[in-house]
Amino acid sequence: MKKQWWHTKTAYQIYPKSFYDSNGDGIGDLQGIISKLDYLKYLGIDIIWLSPIYISPLADQGYDIADYYDIDPRFGTMEDMDQLLREAKKRDMYVLMDLVVNHCSDEHIWFKKACEDPDGRYGKYFYIETVKPGEKLPCNWRSYFGGPVWEKLPGHEDKYYLHVFHKKQPDLNWENPLLREEVYKMVNWWLDRGLAGFRIDAIINIKKALPFKDYPADREDGLARIDQMLHEAKGVGVFLGELRDRCFAPHKAFTVGEVFNEKPEELPDFIGDNGYFSSMFDFEETVFGSSPDGWHKNLDITPDDYRDCVFRTQKKIGDIAFISNIIENHDEPRGVSRYLPEGQRDDASKKLLATVYFLVKGLPWIYQGQELGMENTSFAGIEEVDDIASVNAYQVSLSQGVSVEEALGFVGKYSRDNARTPFQWSAEANAGFTEGIPWLKLNPNYTSINLADQQEDPDSVFNYYRALIALRKNPEYCDTLVYGDFEPFLEDSHDLMAYYRSNRESGQRILVLGNFSTSSRSIPLSFTVQKILLNNIPGNVPEIDEKTGTLRLEACQALVLLM
Ligand code: GLC
Ligand code: CA
Repeated sequence: MKKQWWHTKTAYQIYPKSFYDSNGDGIGDLQGIISKLDYLKYLGIDIIWLSPIYISPLADQGYDIADYYDIDPRFGTMEDMDQLLREAKKRDMYVLMDLVVNHCSDEHIWFKKACEDPDGRYGKYFYIETVKPGEKLPCNWRSYFGGPVWEKLPGHEDKYYLHVFHKKQPDLNWENPLLREEVYKMVNWWLDRGLAGFRIDAIINIKKALPFKDYPADREDGLARIDQMLHEAKGVGVFLGELRDRCFAPHKAFTVGEVFNEKPEELPDFIGDNGYFSSMFDFEETVFGSSPDGWHKNLDITPDDYRDCVFRTQKKIGDIAFISNIIENHDEPRGVSRYLPEGQRDDASKKLLATVYFLVKGLPWIYQGQELGMENTSFAGIEEVDDIASVNAYQVSLSQGVSVEEALGFVGKYSRDNARTPFQWSAEANAGFTEGIPWLKLNPNYTSINLADQQEDPDSVFNYYRALIALRKNPEYCDTLVYGDFEPFLEDSHDLMAYYRSNRESGQRILVLGNFSTSSRSIPLSFTVQKILLNNIPGNVPEIDEKTGTLRLEACQALVLLM
């Protein structure tokens, strides 16, 4: 693997609508982000990814774009965007936008023109099929947000268009070279403006297995999950290689793909030295236990499962590429609520989770609020939920006989809205996020979990994240923590996540230990400890018995040790 400028950096995802509202309309915005750049710099962030801020009806919160060349007025203006790019540059920070090109919005001019003339130029930008009355739909795929992927084309009784997500997100037809040219033009236009690159949304869906056909139904609705089709679809690499060669490579853009379902042998093609993308997210642990039958059938993830997922990816990746590591994002519940066992979500455990995910090989990402240990929220009724995917999942549970109360409980556990509640800046009204009415209800725990309090407290989760980021950048250890080999340690121990990062060239070796158990334990050491680089329970200096070569690791303790 060739070394790249971004390997040593720390990345941060901003969900603009919920980050900081500068003008009191209850919606976070670009000026809000600009005013918090110094905060991000202080935390140690170098790269920021903004979830979509393009013109959009916000049916899927901006992942439904009506104009790729402009900023939605709710978020600001193009001048604000240019200002953000300038201000970021001044601080040696890099800005990524979200590239959403599997689909656009049904309010995009291309789609409107397609409705006017389905056989014309713009009709061919989409997948539009004729279905005579009484005939069946072209295929039985179920859209990600529920229901069939086919919707009647407005103004045409006998025509249907394809949408693998919501009906307000018509899929773009990548088989059409004219459509691909439109995409490349737009991507280059943004890169020329000074963007460092993109996070690339849902990209694996751009290749469909054609011609359309049915797959075996997997629920009573007679529909089939899209995965079956994606598994058969061949040739996405042709489109992605073209996108790289026409846009990313000439701009030396940094890109990170939202890729699911890739086959292990495809890793070098996706993110090897000349891959389609610079990096991609590791979703191994986020998909763990998820059931196709609905949230009520999901399996909980234990600390051992979590470790096994992370280690599986680490072993698979080796030195091929640099993966992107997360514990949450805007599509997932909060990491501390998911990966820490119930009753164990105190600050020590939050720091423990932070330590073990942050120091494996790859680019560490922080999702806004994660650095405070923000947690899942709760919902009194489904009307408090904004996210379309969650509303659908709730209905799926009900349709399978789950009670309203239980179904809501699953929403509280898995909903994307858990991660979308506004950032908790302070204990003041609305957590200091807005002076207006927040677009989504705050997590009521902002009075106890907020930045203002944590900045003052040297032992806060926030200050621990700062220390963690600083450690990975420390010139004495950087080479090892960024490029050192990943070697699992005591891999079969229950409730323990431990690994070495070893530098083949310098011989430096760093041991990361995380005890997920509520009891202390003795760890056999193969080398002597030279220095404690980080300890999540500073009051508890670990006892090391030189004679027996063992170390006492307290309940929920995490240590980073120079050996
Ligand atoms: C991606 C986004 C998600 C969105 C979907 C459709 O998975 O992260 O938020 O709903 O694509 O664009
Ligand atoms: Ca605003």
